Amino acid sequence: MAERVRVLVVDDEERMRSFLVAELARLGFSAEEAGSGEEALRRVEERDFDVVLLDLRMEGMTGLEALARFKAADPSPEVIILTGHGTIDTAIEAMRVGAYHYLTKPFKLRDLEIHVRKAHERTVLLRRSRRLLRLVRARIGGAGIVGGSTAMKRVLDLVAKVAPTESAVLVTGESGTGKELVATAIHNLSSRSGFPFVAVNCGALQESLLESELFGHEKGAFTGAHRAKEGLFEVAHQGTLFLDEIGELSPALQVKLLRAIESGEIRRLGGTRAFTVDVRTVSATNVDLREAVRTGRFREDLFYRLSIFPIEVPPLRDRPEDVRDLVLHFLATVTVPGKGPFTIAEEALDALTRYRWPGNVRELRNTVERMMILSEGSTLDLTSVPPEVRAPGPAAIPAPEEVDLTLDEVERRHILAVLARAGGNKTRAAAILGVTTRTLYNKLAEYGVSS
Ligand SMILES: Nc1ncnc2c1ncn2[C@@H]1O[C@H](COP(=O)(O)OP(=O)(O)OP(=O)(O)O)[C@@H](O)[C@H]1O
Ligand SMILES: [Mg+2]
Repeated sequence: MAERVRVLVVDDEERMRSFLVAELARLGFSAEEAGSGEEALRRVEERDFDVVLLDLRMEGMTGLEALARFKAADPSPEVIILTGHGTIDTAIEAMRVGAYHYLTKPFKLRDLEIHVRKAHERTVLLRRSRRLLRLVRARIGGAGIVGGSTAMKRVLDLVAKVAPTESAVLVTGESGTGKELVATAIHNLSSRSGFPFVAVNCGALQESLLESELFGHEKGAFTGAHRAKEGLFEVAHQGTLFLDEIGELSPALQVKLLRAIESGEIRRLGGTRAFTVDVRTVSATNVDLREAVRTGRFREDLFYRLSIFPIEVPPLRDRPEDVRDLVLHFLATVTVPGKGPFTIAEEALDALTRYRWPGNVRELRNTVERMMILSEGSTLDLTSVPPEVRAPGPAAIPAPEEVDLTLDEVERRHILAVLARAGGNKTRAAAILGVTTRTLYNKLAEYGVSS
């Protein structure tokens, strides 16, 4: 038999109180009473109630005060406000503070029953999602990485082992698999965690800009260098320098980076002073660096320097067991203003688990967020799963309907379509398009799309 819904009636009017308790009992609820806000708080501390019926106007602690204290309790019950006509404004205020609903006296017992049941459902829902969140948090040990699959456990194990060392780590894996998250975790679990974690995207900037970003410049080093600027190597001193998309680094910068790492010294552009820097590097790439070394696009000596300790993050399709936990994690952590908390239907979870996720965890995250925004109610059901996820078709290139388009326009549309399909991931979009990330960034800048 289902457990009885526990209701606490808080009213300083004795007659009203006993009437409600008797009626609630008759409806099958387990009802108890408190004659003041203070007493109610004591009762709530003693045991968990599912729903509290709260009179707003009482002697001593007001209903509003009591409400705020109830909502701070964990688990907190849902609160239904009982109000006379004179206090409707306060009741609305109470809703803002977190009351579930209000009933104006006199109310029908039938209405009371419906609202108590609904409030109870909500309590159960909230408790369940809070419990799940706790579970997920415990599982990832605060690293922010969800991964119960054997494959991810292995990754997390490597992270934990290498983090406290000084070794240079190379994180590889497809786009959106969580490489940056892994890099952050390595930093956070290291003795450098009190110092900066500085991320630099080697694919996003032009060579000369990237060089001055990394190494800084002195005043007057080049046109526009009105003042000296410290480089990211200096900023990351004693911390971790995260070299993202390292495979995109130009040959000239590969040489400079290698020199900086080997000597532990950098020189700003246009400067003669040498700065000693103590940084640990964590690099990431979604291209095959070994292959790049073989074809001469990446220096072998630099490759070995950066990849003392390699970690490969597996694609999501190879660890479908993680999909469920990830979805629950995103339901608990991604918020949509004015909506939620959300739960998800089993069939929807199944559909998400079956999909291949070419954009990996990032695509999953974006999909869940889209489902949350589009959903009508608070349960994400099968209908809210995007059609291409439910029944993935062939990867057709969307053809423009009009025939009188310029080649430039066709190119623009195609690039934006591919980018959208890649979940906004520029590295992946560039890979699909067969161009370098830099080319893609340039195109997007041309179109006025911010990166
Ligand atoms: N195991 C995970 N647990 C929780 N969130 C994750 C996990 N893996 C990835 N994410 C989330 O997915 C998104 C993409 O992850 P991240 O940016 O680390 O991927 P990436 O491998 O660096 O991708 P890219 O190659 O495109 O740079 C982020 O929002 C990240 O928080
Ligand atoms: Mg990344």
